[in-house]
Amino acid sequence: MKKPCRPADICAHLGDDYDRYLGAIVPPLFQNTLFTRKHEEHGYSYSRINNPTIEILEKKLAALEHAPAARVFASGMAAITATLSSLLHSGGHVLALRSAYHPVIGFLDTEMKKYGVEVTYLERFTPEEIERSLRPNTRVFYLESPSSNIFRVLPLREIAAQAHACGAVTVIDNTWATPLYQKPLELGIDYSIHSATKYLGGHSDVLGGVVLGSEERMDALRGGQRASWGACMDPFAAWLLIRSLRTLEVRMARHSASADKVARFLQEHPRVRSVCYPGLETDEGHTLAQTQMTGYSGLMSFVPDADNEAIHAMVKSLDVFEEGPSWGGFESVVNTPGLNPNREMLQFEGIPQGLVRISVGLEDADTLIEDLDRALNTLPR
Ligand SMILES: Cc1ncc(COP(=O)(O)O)c(C=O)c1O
Repeated sequence: MKKPCRPADICAHLGDDYDRYLGAIVPPLFQNTLFTRKHEEHGYSYSRINNPTIEILEKKLAALEHAPAARVFASGMAAITATLSSLLHSGGHVLALRSAYHPVIGFLDTEMKKYGVEVTYLERFTPEEIERSLRPNTRVFYLESPSSNIFRVLPLREIAAQAHACGAVTVIDNTWATPLYQKPLELGIDYSIHSATKYLGGHSDVLGGVVLGSEERMDALRGGQRASWGACMDPFAAWLLIRSLRTLEVRMARHSASADKVARFLQEHPRVRSVCYPGLETDEGHTLAQTQMTGYSGLMSFVPDADNEAIHAMVKSLDVFEEGPSWGGFESVVNTPGLNPNREMLQFEGIPQGLVRISVGLEDADTLIEDLDRALNTLPR
């Protein structure tokens, strides 16, 4: 296919080069560190800097998110920390979302503080909250939308405009929505980041991260943080991700349809107090999400109507949902952020007591609903 443009075609075919690779239907894996001879012609020398397999993946991801360029990293955290440390310097200040992925808060509070970077955490990034928190040295707005655990939706266009008006740049963790369902650069955001370990990989067998943005910014990341810190992706991981992306569109359609069914089931269940899922019309972020997203993925949370001990037993009684901290794979997963004994942290991140998070996998939605229904009905009345 000459110029794949539609998402399904980009997923299936962008990066094919049958003439170059002996008609191979799958581009080969360049699992080599060194490239010799004719560097000036082919442009490769060492895989920490550049590699043809890595480049195919980067082109595919950039096309999917309508971004000028992409750079991949060893993990989502490597992508986030490389981006933030490239933008923040001693004496700088960052505004960050409280409900962002917790290890990012850890990174800002420990590693970045060591280098003299100041942080202010915001709950919703409303214009008033931003106004109150801005300082002359504010350089970066760090966002995640929908955010971790409670899936708060942020007004991205407005936040980007306010950041640019004060000379700051915006960085978003876009993992939840995938490049298919949210294109932050089109909303004015400067850097969009994904943990490729989640839906982009989708098979729970590969770690990776990606940053998307302008050519100039992505070139700076490749030659700067990625090369010097060595947080580059292994070519085999890139090859696995190219394999995964071929089915991204069909996988996401299934995750999304099943999650919609599961969320509606939970919302109606007498043993469930509340559900956090921006795809539901009743969710506080739904109206806003409709203006900046084109679909909803398969990660949600809910608060069962029971005490922590009973919720713990209910989660243990699930048969199909396996307990674990990751998400976005083919398999359904459950974890329990709201049972964390650190109440101060829960309050800081806006996580209600008892909150249970589920990642809706590719199993039959009815199988998942039966599993949840059986477990919820074990809760004492
Ligand atoms: C929202 C979000 N962003 C980033 C990450 C970090 O990704 P990785 O585990 O690939 O470093 C995670 C991991 O769970 C995540 O949930």
